[in-house]
Amino acid sequence: MNLSDLRKEYTRAGISKKNLAPNPFKQFEIWFQQAVDGDLLEPNAMTLSTVGPDNIPSARVVLLKVFDNNGFVFFTNYSSKKAKDIAQNPNVALHFYWPAFERQLRINGIAKKITAKESFDYYKTRPRGSQLGAWISEQSSVISSRKLLEMQFGKIMEKFAKGQIPLPDFWGGYRIKPSSFEFWQGRENRLHDRISYNLIGDNNNWQKNRLAP
Ligand SMILES: Cc1cc2nc3c(=O)[nH]c(=O)nc-3n(C[C@H](O)[C@H](O)[C@H](O)COP(=O)(O)O)c2cc1C
Repeated sequence: MNLSDLRKEYTRAGISKKNLAPNPFKQFEIWFQQAVDGDLLEPNAMTLSTVGPDNIPSARVVLLKVFDNNGFVFFTNYSSKKAKDIAQNPNVALHFYWPAFERQLRINGIAKKITAKESFDYYKTRPRGSQLGAWISEQSSVISSRKLLEMQFGKIMEKFAKGQIPLPDFWGGYRIKPSSFEFWQGRENRLHDRISYNLIGDNNNWQKNRLAP
């Protein structure tokens, strides 16, 4: 299939070093709020890239559940492929793409497990079915059939029929502490605006630069 005619001109207002916030977390908040207000489908869906022990990169979508000046939190299975990658190499990349706004956002940082208490606080807010699902999915392992999965779900439903479902010890969150951000705004004639932020030292001191498109 030849897709050479599939093209779009970007026409929204630009961004500059001057009109982006000095702090990238603040700027993220502004863009994220605009994505939420813009009624985008799952604006908190982000691609998480990890690198395996074999040096092969791997990308998948996860949902951002918490963000503040300490970082970006998502939840997952601690035995999954991504968790194994992170255990070997905590350097990860996050990527958001909000096409309705002609924007992408790249973040690099270090992933670290959050505490079991923080994970449980979030786990309790999930629908009961999702809490149970976390118990039975040996995420990323090979399974023989869907039927087996559904049988296991039935069993766990019986086991935890009443009361608060406990947090599985193999399930929880990671917080990504960023060291760089890049805010990208599509512009006309492919002269896109790209503003990067790099952490200088460890005193929340961010250096902004404009990058060539
Ligand atoms: C929209 C969307 C949201 C997702 N959110 C999560 C999530 O928050 N946590 C998670 O572990 N997997 C999530 N997944 C599934 C992952 O993309 C992936 O299939 C799974 O985590 C296994 O990845 P791994 O084998 O690389 O560890 C989501 C998938 C999609 C399409």
